[in-house]
Amino acid sequence: MSELTREGHRGTGPGAITPDGCAVELYERLPVGDEPDIVQRAVPARARILELGSGTGRMTHPLVERGFTVTAVDESSAMLERVRGARTVRSPIEELELGERFDVVLLASFLVHTADPRVRGRLLRACRRHVADEGCVLIQREDAGRHENLPRERAAGDGLIRVVSSEPVRPGVRSVHVEYVFPDARWTQTFLSCPLTTEAFEGALAEAGLAVDAYLTDDRTWVRARPVLDRP
Ligand SMILES: C[S@@+](CC[C@H](N)C(=O)[O-])C[C@H]1O[C@@H](n2cnc3c(N)ncnc32)[C@H](O)[C@@H]1O
Repeated sequence: MSELTREGHRGTGPGAITPDGCAVELYERLPVGDEPDIVQRAVPARARILELGSGTGRMTHPLVERGFTVTAVDESSAMLERVRGARTVRSPIEELELGERFDVVLLASFLVHTADPRVRGRLLRACRRHVADEGCVLIQREDAGRHENLPRERAAGDGLIRVVSSEPVRPGVRSVHVEYVFPDARWTQTFLSCPLTTEAFEGALAEAGLAVDAYLTDDRTWVRARPVLDRP
């Protein structure tokens, strides 16, 4: 499988860098936030979760500890080598064909904002074909102010995450540059992001056969979608 960089994505800093510009050593040390709580509140106990773009298992590990059975998918073998307690599958999400369906499919980390609308469609269709009829898809999307008031920074463990800039590169697509500064190391990631209005987001879901069931957080960044079923 190719380790080529995805168009418009790059990363710098120590250790392996994924095709979308993420640093493996960075994700190994980034603390998890409230994501596992949000997932736990939104899905049945002990559900089977398909986690798309799992990285090193930052969210996987707390979910496994809470009794969920997780299959972690990532296109980076260097990321998946760090995942413990879960089945791992190396694949681009858009090409995933496991032939199984899960109680929950998780598409976090703003992957739905990919710059290419065809890729977005393929990501969402991968969610749709892997979710059980009675199951759900949890998606993490950007909040409205994500590309404004920059630079902006916040603490992460003993480091700082600084969103330095977000510049338009073509209609509807921005190039975002982020720095991660720790006492002993520094990483950067540059990636493309396509901001989506609620209407555009819900439209993309509908094209993939999914529909919003609930916005799970006040900032509307976490969404639970359900498959639209073909009833005779
Ligand atoms: C920003 S990291 C987040 C990792 C993890 N979700 C977390 O929150 O710690 C994004 C991860 O998704 C993977 N990824 C991004 N796009 C992907 C795609 N289209 N197919 C498979 N993996 C992808 C990257 O390799 C990386 O490990």
